[in-house]
Amino acid sequence: MRKPFIIANWKMHKNIEESVAFINQIKAALPQVADEEVGIAAQAVALSSMKQTAQGTSLQIIAQNAASELAGPYTGEISARSLADAGASYVMLGHLERRRLFHEDNQIINQKVRSALTTGITPIICTDDKMVQAEVNGEIHYVFDQLKGVLKGVDPAHLQKIVLSYEPSWAVGSSQTANPKVAQQGCHRIRQTVANLYGSLLADQVRILYGGSVNPQNIGTIMAQPDVDGALIGRASLRPDDFLEMVNWQQ
Ligand code: G3H
Repeated sequence: MRKPFIIANWKMHKNIEESVAFINQIKAALPQVADEEVGIAAQAVALSSMKQTAQGTSLQIIAQNAASELAGPYTGEISARSLADAGASYVMLGHLERRRLFHEDNQIINQKVRSALTTGITPIICTDDKMVQAEVNGEIHYVFDQLKGVLKGVDPAHLQKIVLSYEPSWAVGSSQTANPKVAQQGCHRIRQTVANLYGSLLADQVRILYGGSVNPQNIGTIMAQPDVDGALIGRASLRPDDFLEMVNWQQ
C-alpha cells in the first residue's frame, strides 16, 4: 500500500515570515502521518524556521534543489548535508524549471541524487514530458532515457524510499487544466520504466506523484487514478485554505 504524498512547491514565493505564518495557520489541521504524508518545498533560507514551527507535527520540510557535490569550492551552492542540517527530510531534484531555466541535464541530476542519498536526505526526482503532443512511443523512450539517466548507479535499496514525479511541461504553470487520464498515463509509464530497470516488486512500491495545474477542484479525480500516489502543487498551494482543501482531498 503506497501512502499518499501531497506536496506544496512554493518555488520562489514566500519569505521566511510568510512561510512560518502559513505553517502556523495549517498545522493544527494536518492529517496523521500514518494516513498521508504532507510536505512543503520552500526556499532554502526558510527551511530551519519552518522546521522549528512544524515541530510536533507530521509536516515534511522539503528543499527545492541541492548541489551535486558534497562540499568544496562551489560558491553560491548549498549542499545536501546543509539542507538536512536545516531540517529538510526530502529534496526535489530535476524539476522542470531546473532543467529548462538552469540547464540541468540527466548527468548533473544523477550526481545530485547520489549526493543527497549519501547524506540521508530523500530525493524527490522529477520527470517531465517536454513534448506537447509526442507520439506515445516517443514519450516512452524519452521518459525511459530520463529515468535511466537520473537513476544511474542508484542502489535498489535506495529506490524503495525515493519518490518520483511526473510533470508534463505543458501543464506546469499553465492555464491548461490537468487531465486525470494524462496524469495516469504518465505515472503508469514511469512505473513501467522502473519495472524495466529494477523489477516489478520495487515498481509497485515506489511512489509517483503528478504535478501540473493541480487545484482543489481537480485533485480528487487525479488522486483517484491507480498509478498516481500524490500531487506536486505549485500555484494552488500558496493559500493555506486551498492547500488544506487539497491535503484533505479524500473528504
Ligand atoms: O512543482 C509543481 C509544478 O511545477 C506545478 O506547478 O501547480 O503551478 O502548475 P503548478
